Amino acid sequence: MSETVDVLIVGAGAAGMMCAIEAGRRGRSVRIVDHARAPGEKIRISGGGRCNFTNLGTGPANFLGENPRFATSALKRYTQHDFIKRVDRASIAWHEKTLGQLFCDDSAKQIIRMLTDDMREAGATLSLGLAVDRVARSGEGFEAALSDGSVVRARSLVLATGGKSIPKMGATGWAYETARQFGLRVTDTRPALVPLTFEPGLLEKLAPLSGLSVEAVVSHRTPADGGAPGRPTAETRFAEGMLFTHRGLSGPSILQISSYWREGEAITVAMAPGEDVYARLKAAKEENGKQMVHTALGHIVPRRLAESVCEREGVQGKLAEVGDKVLRRLDEAVNAWTVKPVGSEGYRTAEVTLGGIATDELDQQTMAAKAVPGLYAIGEAVDVTGWLGGYNFQWAWSSGWAAGQVC
Ligand code: FDA
Repeated sequence: MSETVDVLIVGAGAAGMMCAIEAGRRGRSVRIVDHARAPGEKIRISGGGRCNFTNLGTGPANFLGENPRFATSALKRYTQHDFIKRVDRASIAWHEKTLGQLFCDDSAKQIIRMLTDDMREAGATLSLGLAVDRVARSGEGFEAALSDGSVVRARSLVLATGGKSIPKMGATGWAYETARQFGLRVTDTRPALVPLTFEPGLLEKLAPLSGLSVEAVVSHRTPADGGAPGRPTAETRFAEGMLFTHRGLSGPSILQISSYWREGEAITVAMAPGEDVYARLKAAKEENGKQMVHTALGHIVPRRLAESVCEREGVQGKLAEVGDKVLRRLDEAVNAWTVKPVGSEGYRTAEVTLGGIATDELDQQTMAAKAVPGLYAIGEAVDVTGWLGGYNFQWAWSSGWAAGQVC
């Protein structure tokens, strides 16, 4: 069985579906295939089932990659406000949770339904449970052999299979391999927006803290000699929640910093940001020197954390028994805790993949491969990685839309 279409899109995730809608609306015949049993599975589980579908403040500064400016054009041509209008037209109620992050009031499934309805209306054909076994250049276009034995010929081929995170959900490196097959460079990939892990010795010491969350400021400085392309040399910091886990640290601030951190490097954590811990302990000492140090610290940070900090610093006894130097040490242990994670939880739990198809291989307005006419790459497969907070979906919408205007 063989079929000829204008556009073959591989991957019915956020970017692929957006591209299918736009290309279909332009009158292109579109086939979109996915090996999963349902489209948009990552949309479904995103944002705790409510999908953080965009961020009001989206701009190139919220992205990492060899060339973060690459995203500017697509993000400007199809903005967060364009997507919000689409969501409004579909009568999907939403709210801003925090830091410009927009979530569905009800369910992420509404976003998937909006996209699948639009695809149907635009005439795009969605085929699920199908993988691409082989793809090759054929004349001016491409020929793809699908896992059901059929062959699809297409003038345009869109790589939209996303990154490698959460393989259990069907994530593969297909887009990277196919890009390489056509001679496109792919940058190193690594798990990002991912919890960080500690070595067993430290884990044992921190075990009582497992499950505790605090508001924190987490920062990281790229070593001057360790800079890879796109890695900022200045300090990067995020002020958001942090969670102690039985493996290490998680929570939004840690996920954010994980995209900047590399093995062997340290992060610095302030667990009582904005508080002068030294001054408060000193005042407590003057007021009541008989108070236990960990009790006084427990008025500034959660009690469990106060006890753990005192134990790790070897500080016992009453405030009256400790000098200024010790109080300063406690201040540092709380607000300038410098720690070296040993690794991350990896693709198993990472929200995204850092790196991907090199942006210098692509046209920034259209996502077309410069050297391979008719080939496009969109979404997470491209070396454009957003912060936590709706930025990655906005990139998927914007890049999918941009390719959909021309493919
Ligand atoms: P996406 O991964 O969505 O889609 C790729 C599609 O290709 C999938 O349907 C897959 O089945 C298919 N595929 C893969 N390999 C294939 C192959 N070989 N053959 C055929 N099909 C193949 N972002 C955000 O902005 N806000 C949020 O709230 C969240 N929340 C979130 C939670 C969790 C748990 C995760 C894992 C991720 C997020 N993200 C997020 C990130 C966001 O989900 C991600 O950046 C986008 O889904 C990327 O969209 P793409 O369309 O590029 O890939």
